[in-house]
Amino acid sequence: MKIAILIDGPRTGHFPGEEASSEDLHKERAVQCIKDVISTRYKCIILKADYDILTKLKREKIDLAFNLCNGIRGRTRLAQIPALLEFAGIPYTSSSILGHTLAINKHYACKIFKEAGLPTPRFASIYNLEELEQIQVTSFPVLVKPCDEGSGRGIHQDSLVYDMDSLVAKVRKGLKTYNPPILVTEYIKGREFTVGILGNGDSLEALPILEICFEGLPKNLAKFYSFEVKTRYEDHTVFKCPAPLNEKLRNEIIRTAKRAYKALNMRDYARVDIRLKGNTPYILEINSLPGLQKGYSDITKMVNACSLKYDGLIFKIIHNAIKRYNLTGIETKVG
Ligand SMILES: Nc1ncnc2c1ncn2[C@@H]1O[C@H](COP(=O)(O)OP(=O)(O)OP(=O)(O)O)[C@@H](O)[C@H]1O
Ligand SMILES: [Mg+2]
Repeated sequence: MKIAILIDGPRTGHFPGEEASSEDLHKERAVQCIKDVISTRYKCIILKADYDILTKLKREKIDLAFNLCNGIRGRTRLAQIPALLEFAGIPYTSSSILGHTLAINKHYACKIFKEAGLPTPRFASIYNLEELEQIQVTSFPVLVKPCDEGSGRGIHQDSLVYDMDSLVAKVRKGLKTYNPPILVTEYIKGREFTVGILGNGDSLEALPILEICFEGLPKNLAKFYSFEVKTRYEDHTVFKCPAPLNEKLRNEIIRTAKRAYKALNMRDYARVDIRLKGNTPYILEINSLPGLQKGYSDITKMVNACSLKYDGLIFKIIHNAIKRYNLTGIETKVG
């Protein structure tokens, strides 16, 4: 079996400085880790998703694409490469056009969670500043965040706002930098968890739950996973995996995460971010293409806490896709 890892070009130049460079750096590192693993079992090449990608795919005659493309621009950028791959009839790992489109847009994703009866923070979507006058913020603080970013981009320490003036200023700034709408969300103060889910249909498995603890942060920093915390205070952040939880709560978090995964039509693997309000898990978002950088990305910490480990995770993602497409013949013949 021949597998191509598909990667984006750099986002630097399309996006604010440090946010783009940090994304590019982690993407590059992840690709190398994944290639090292895949090459132990399959023929593996890396292809950059540029204008010639369809020609390259045709020439290379691959059996499966390991898709790592978050896209560079556009509101449904994660769906762009899946759309090309479907056009070309090439099987690929991870979610489909539909799943990525839903998950990258927190406005629609949260509406779907609500519709499915899943707890998610209250939010308002702001497309222009005048709309702010029409919403009633019943209690501060609220968290201001972009609708379609990831890895903390656009979620900074000052995104947690305590009064109307700061809210207006933050939304104004957000609308200048990120795709609209900007979300104004209820701030859930409780413990934070992230849950890795693997699989398809009714055979889903949850990885050990990872708790992200912010108590060790310097006193002047707000206790949430802002871009600053992700990039500069990783050493002060404590990761607990498996998270210390009683069985009832653990099961409830896993049940909620699996329902959310299904509600957004996720495939093969995804990561569900959750905060507790009382004993109720609230879904913040789903990452349909979570980072896979060995030892650094959350999901890779989870596999280290069970028998799967990093190599097992990569092969499991591939096997989930192989099973979905019924490619098992190819695997045993060439692999
Ligand atoms: N409604 C909320 N209440 C409390 N904290 C929140 C809320 N929304 C986001 N956060 C905090 O901000 C962090 C980043 O938010 P979110 O997961 O939506 O952004 P992201 O950039 O897509 O993250 P990722 O790194 O997982 O891609 C969360 O991990 C959490 O700490
Ligand atoms: Mg998140």
